[in-house]
Amino acid sequence: MCGIFAYVGPKTTIRVALEGLRKVEYRGYDSAGIAYINEGKLATKKAVGKLANLEKVLGEDASPCIIAHTRWATHGKVTETNAHPILDQTDSIAVVHNGIVENFEQLRHELEREGVTFRTETDTEVIANLIAKFYTDDLLRAVQEVMPLLTGSSAFVAIHKNHPDECVAAKIGSPIVVGVGEGEMILASDPNAIIHHTRDVIYLSDGEVVRIKPHSVELFDASRTPISKKVEQLAHSAEEFSKGNFEHYTLKEIHDQPQAIRNAMLSRFLEEYGTAIFEDLQIKPANLLAVKRIVIVAAGTSFHAGLIAGYMLEEIARIPTDVEISSEFRYRNPIVADGTLVLAISQSGETADTIAAVRELKAKGATVIGICNVHGSTLSREADGTLFLRAGPEIGVCSTKAFTTQLTVLALFTLMMARLRHISKTEGQEFLTALKAIPGQVEQILSQSDAIQQLAETYAQFNDFFFIGRRYMFPTCLEGALKLKEIAYINANGYAAGEMKHGPIALLNERCPTLALCTDMLTYDKVVSNVMEARARHSPILGIAFEGDTRLKKIATHLIEIPKTRDELAPITTAVVCQLFAYFCAKKRGADIDQPKNLAKSVTVE
Ligand code: G6P
Repeated sequence: MCGIFAYVGPKTTIRVALEGLRKVEYRGYDSAGIAYINEGKLATKKAVGKLANLEKVLGEDASPCIIAHTRWATHGKVTETNAHPILDQTDSIAVVHNGIVENFEQLRHELEREGVTFRTETDTEVIANLIAKFYTDDLLRAVQEVMPLLTGSSAFVAIHKNHPDECVAAKIGSPIVVGVGEGEMILASDPNAIIHHTRDVIYLSDGEVVRIKPHSVELFDASRTPISKKVEQLAHSAEEFSKGNFEHYTLKEIHDQPQAIRNAMLSRFLEEYGTAIFEDLQIKPANLLAVKRIVIVAAGTSFHAGLIAGYMLEEIARIPTDVEISSEFRYRNPIVADGTLVLAISQSGETADTIAAVRELKAKGATVIGICNVHGSTLSREADGTLFLRAGPEIGVCSTKAFTTQLTVLALFTLMMARLRHISKTEGQEFLTALKAIPGQVEQILSQSDAIQQLAETYAQFNDFFFIGRRYMFPTCLEGALKLKEIAYINANGYAAGEMKHGPIALLNERCPTLALCTDMLTYDKVVSNVMEARARHSPILGIAFEGDTRLKKIATHLIEIPKTRDELAPITTAVVCQLFAYFCAKKRGADIDQPKNLAKSVTVE
């Protein structure tokens, strides 16, 4: 949940760290700091709050070696003292850390008994003091001694005041990437902090340690044996990480969707046979045909995509499908019968709970397909096969284009599974025709932005909302409500419309609007009745329906009309309306849209 950046090389200004931190700030942003070596001593600069605050206290010092961190607090309050880098008690070693040391209390007590004084509430301080304990002129060796003592999922980088040109990093579950430059080396939690320096990267695996110096990278496995690893080329361009002329990354990413969806589909379907193909999937059709049950695990927005996929896979491919929140699933003792296929959905491919669920399922013999946006991520490396979203980097904390590309990939996957089983070529072709129309339909919705903004500005005054819908629209309601919570800080509940009568309807009144998602035609009549019931309780109604709607128009306070599509694909277009609505509500309320309070993009702690 925290962002790490480290640099060794000729760009000695400590401000190089600021640029790196900006690229990983989405991972956590309650405080930030840097450490470097100045005249043989460790120097630190820290500030609570956004990077702008750190920028104010950064001087113009120069150092050939800098470590930097942006924090999402786990252990200890948000204070300057608890902000990283964290120093050992002798101020010789500085550490930046992402993740959790689960056994830190025990380690801290042991160190305290040995006379070590702690100055922060962080778990990271045990790492710094343990490195100090084992240090005898060799930082790498000391880090290697410490690694096996730590439990939990972490990544950290350490520097020592006596080694002004080296950083040592370790990966125990959380991501860390090495950027291999010409006379400079970088370490970061995310390659997007590296791309401005070099496109050549090495992904560390769990248990590995790396020592970087300006002209060398030395890698070691968990048994301390030197290893060599492939240098990979980053696929994205630096521009993809910019927000261009948009005010926020979130808005840019909402507008990226037509192209992102096209990319997600590119060369993944065969018109002539009315089916989908995934050349990147290393699983044979015969094995896919043998699938008897699908289990989907995911968190947050990805879970909502999973719920929609669950409806599709059962209805179209006729495969029994269970969709599980990964943080719940991992504590069960799942029964993995023969023929179970797991779909693990994660934009980042790093969500700790989803990774843990995948490991549990793999340990039980299941085949796992990852549905993921980030090449080189933990999920993509651990799954038996990965379907990449091709959405491009998603920087805004609230997920937008990842959701709609997940749905696109899942729709294609469903089509392939259905064609392998029972649906006809013509039915497959009809499905494809509808899917191929989606990017254009999303463009049409984006062209209604001004109208949606006006409506959002009217509704932004309310503090409580219900999103109601049935069938494919139920998970879409969950997602729409989540957007409003995440970026506009509005209490919004997604509800299956049929459940409103079982309690929540008691909350409806003229101060609690209902967003009625009426783009599931099979259940349209029923939802319209539920909307009538809401209106009878004076709830202002904002309806979303297909063009040409006449019934909802009569009862809704306001109506947004969108192009007609199939029920299974309507979550994609309807979600785009919900994203714009939440974005403009948040803007009206003056919220920090790209970096909502208390959240982080990549949840690498449990
Ligand atoms: C965080 C993000 C959400 C995301 C969720 C799951 O909460 O803010 O936008 O949906 O994590 O992330 P994943 O990378 O696994 O899809």
